[in-house]
Amino acid sequence: MEDINFPSTNELKILLNEEKIKKIFIICGKNSYKSSGADALMKESIKKNSQFYFKKSYYPEINELKEIIKLIKRYSPDLILAIGGGSVLDYAKIANVLFDSRDLIEEIYSSTYKIKKKFAKLAAIPTTAGSGAEVTSNAVIYINKVKYSVEGDNLRPDFFFLVPDLVIRASRAVKASAGFDAIAQAIESLISKKSNEKSVKFAERSLQISLKYFLDFLNKPNLENTSAMNFAANLAGEAINISKTTAPHAVSYPFTSMYNISHGHAVSLTLNQFLEFNYKNISKANCNFDLSSRYKIMFKASKTKNFLDFNKFLVDIKVNANLENNFQNLKIDLERDYDKFISGVNILRLSNNPIKLNKEDLKNIIIPNS
Ligand SMILES: [Fe+2]
Repeated sequence: MEDINFPSTNELKILLNEEKIKKIFIICGKNSYKSSGADALMKESIKKNSQFYFKKSYYPEINELKEIIKLIKRYSPDLILAIGGGSVLDYAKIANVLFDSRDLIEEIYSSTYKIKKKFAKLAAIPTTAGSGAEVTSNAVIYINKVKYSVEGDNLRPDFFFLVPDLVIRASRAVKASAGFDAIAQAIESLISKKSNEKSVKFAERSLQISLKYFLDFLNKPNLENTSAMNFAANLAGEAINISKTTAPHAVSYPFTSMYNISHGHAVSLTLNQFLEFNYKNISKANCNFDLSSRYKIMFKASKTKNFLDFNKFLVDIKVNANLENNFQNLKIDLERDYDKFISGVNILRLSNNPIKLNKEDLKNIIIPNS
């Protein structure tokens, strides 16, 4: 890989050994902490007072967040270190700014929360190459299986470190879902109504790298393709931090909370359909840029010539990554569950879609042939 340079273990060790950092609170994944090798890295890197919290829930949810806030306040660390996948990073980011809420559920539910000054400095080490959560200023939390987003500049971690050694050992399924999240985030960022010149640069670079390395990263992981995917995920995070995501992300959350489908996999279920809908309706685009030029960026990054080829390219990637696309096989019954499903969709993210979507469009896209 050319020109990849990001803060990694050396920079991490320097931070952890800073004089002014006396106490470190570490939030990490229950199983991934050992299996990723983070355990060994921390043993050799941290020589001072520290407390661990091991995440329990499959996705970030409000009761566990409350528990984490309580522990952080009790321990009063100078540094919070989040080592894990998207959920671990989300917990740390929210806890660090909403530690003083009177009624956390109500405030998140009604978006009346007040982002505080950070409780402590926050450092993030992703153990999946996916969400890019180490550089974004929002985080996800579920209340009663409905997804909410907490947003504010102070959520963005103060430091991030990319350590490919910790990412390479994840299972193929985790790599596939997380890696596809990075791909989808770059694609959605390119067509988001909030995209700008800067976000397009991040997204384009991210997509060039992820499309080149994703399948090798799954099939023959090595340090080169893992570093590349780590970097691509980080760039996609920078891109969506500016542009936010669009429809495939908006409708992905109930797939996760209702059917336990991992995040990137959930996004993959409707990405092609929304891309096709947007492409077919390009003349009705409601955005301040030329939407077709953004599709051209995708064609170029995938070395395809037109939408049909690009669509097939993405379908092939999903098949090769074993990201199951069949609702029946995934035990998803939207004929039965659609009303509940649609109530869990993030309307705000839906409004970033470059083509306006009405209820009918949405249903036709989500339940093909309904
Ligand atoms: Fe995502």
